[in-house]
Amino acid sequence: MKKSLINKPMLAVALLLSSASPLLHAASPEDAVEFRQGVFRAMGWNFGPMGAMIQGRKPFDAEAFAQGAERVAVLANMVAEGFIEGTGRSDGMDTRLKEEYWYQQANFDKLMQRMVANADTLAQAVASGKDREELRPVLAQLAGSCKNCHEEYRGRD
Ligand code: HEC
Repeated sequence: MKKSLINKPMLAVALLLSSASPLLHAASPEDAVEFRQGVFRAMGWNFGPMGAMIQGRKPFDAEAFAQGAERVAVLANMVAEGFIEGTGRSDGMDTRLKEEYWYQQANFDKLMQRMVANADTLAQAVASGKDREELRPVLAQLAGSCKNCHEEYRGRD
């Protein structure tokens, strides 16, 4: 397939940049799609209550917030591993990943790295004992980096 020939070197660079796991070679495209969707859902699972706490829809619980921030940082660091060759809609996968991804991987990786950096910043802010008001803009910045990528690369079901 022509497409995969073009994408191979780019993908290799992308995976290096995202510090690919040595386990990666074992994954089938189906597994990779399920992995990334599962990791994203786990991120959302933790992120939702954190947003609700900051917005006052839920009482602020520093311990729960800290646990959520740590988990999101860990998950953010692994989700890129699920973006491997053969996992597009045109490969027959059940995915919301837009086809633009396949020729804009450098831009996608930049958005991914921003999210990882923002998740690390939030985890550090929490660990350094910042209070709810101080955490508000840090969480907002992370949420913005989720939204930026979804607008560009997440399509409909
Ligand atoms: C670099 C791009 C990118 C970033 C950053 C990103 N996402 Fe996503 N997200 C996606 C893509 C692409 C999908 C669809 C994956 C698929 O279907 O294969 C997705 C799917 C999801 C889903 C699953 C929804 C569904 O039913 O398909 C959730 C929940 C989610 N993301 C939450 C988040 C949260 C929370 C953040 C930030 C903390 C975030 N994402 C950051 C690209 C991104």
